Amino acid sequence: MSGGKVLVIGGGGREHALCWKLADSPFVQQVYCAPGSVGIATTKKVECVELDIKDYPAIAKWCKENEIEFVVVGPEDPLANGIVDALTPLGIKCFGPTKAGAEIEANKDWSKTFMNKYQIPTARHKSFTDAAAAKEFINTASYPALVVKASGLAAGKGVVVAANKEEACKAVDDILTDSKYGSAGSTVVIEELLEGDEVSILAFTDGETVSVMPPAQDHKRVGDGDTGPNTGGMGAYCPCPLITPDQLLDVKDQVLQRAVDGLKAEGIKYVGVLYAGMMVTKSGPMTLEFNCRFGDPETQVLMTLLETDLYKVIKACVEGTLKQLQVTWNTKLSSVGVVIASKGYPETYTKGCVISGLTQVSSLPGTEVFYSGVSRGANGSLVSAGGRVLLACARAGSLRAAAAAATAAAALVDFPGAHYRKDIAHRAFTNM
Ligand code: AMP
Ligand code: GLY
Repeated sequence: MSGGKVLVIGGGGREHALCWKLADSPFVQQVYCAPGSVGIATTKKVECVELDIKDYPAIAKWCKENEIEFVVVGPEDPLANGIVDALTPLGIKCFGPTKAGAEIEANKDWSKTFMNKYQIPTARHKSFTDAAAAKEFINTASYPALVVKASGLAAGKGVVVAANKEEACKAVDDILTDSKYGSAGSTVVIEELLEGDEVSILAFTDGETVSVMPPAQDHKRVGDGDTGPNTGGMGAYCPCPLITPDQLLDVKDQVLQRAVDGLKAEGIKYVGVLYAGMMVTKSGPMTLEFNCRFGDPETQVLMTLLETDLYKVIKACVEGTLKQLQVTWNTKLSSVGVVIASKGYPETYTKGCVISGLTQVSSLPGTEVFYSGVSRGANGSLVSAGGRVLLACARAGSLRAAAAAATAAAALVDFPGAHYRKDIAHRAFTNM
């Protein structure tokens, strides 16, 4: 066999999609995934390896012994903890920003100051470490200062969109006074409430050039019609029509390119994926947040539409030659992913339930299954092992057809207590 070997760090549905797409490249001989998962290991050409992802010298040693061409880092935590800073000097090429670059996600206070400095459109805000001062601001601000955020990484949980000033003040107490998110909440960012449609705009970058991916939309709430508690994401679709082509160009120039240029001006060469969480308001797209990595579950749908070989794209990013590569996407198809979750999720959920219907789903044309929380039961069958268990993804010639196919695929997968949303992409239909 010829071709390169690559290592993906992580083990969720996003990393499954990245492994699947990398394995599809004729230039890739073997994809390794650490720690990976039982589900990821079911993919052809993908092998999971037991590496301690905090032990950087051990990872570097293993990469050298196994002639790894580059490492793709999936989640934010290792990036924010400096995995790229540790591996790069040891001669390992990495796709993902350094610790300083990851601040754009891991430190919202820093990120907002950065956005203001480089005139990246975003909600007005103020940061506080003192609860009394924060509450005083909520009560007197000239704009609805109702969004309260823990500045640090809080596994997607540290943001409260308050219905009124009392709720916003309570969020300040939870975060600053009661340390609900530990040190991630030693600073709060209080923001102006923005209204509109949320769209995820991700871009590949080599630190100079940005190559923007088609717009996608995530579904955070657990229930149909965007009801119930927030989750890690119950589904996604792409392309999302809730942002116009002109607005998309603005996001490319005024948000993503400006951020990469600004980071460079700050002495940070940002390589990897820059994810802009945008609110498309009446007065145009505004940046809610940056993430320093691929989104989950956006990546699962995006990878099914990427035409260019992912290995080539990542290689161009790590080698600084992205400008010379034309990254193309399938513009004739839409892709919809429906997450199937365990009973109880996003609260305490059941595990160990035998999953049926997977063979039927994988035989459907244009359909893929990406695993997030799957393990092997005593008799060798696949069983649920997480809150979000898997995502059924379908492509079709229209968003409506793709949504219908993905929902039908999700209906074929079963285990006791399984639940999924039946309305993924609905905002695209009500607004079209
Ligand atoms: P973040 O992690 O900063 O993106 O916030 C998480 C979620 O909170 C976003 O996906 C939005 O749904 C919501 N959110 C954050 N900031 C705002 C804002 N300024 N106005 C309205 N909603 C917001
Ligand atoms: N889908 C949202 C995220 O990955 O942060």
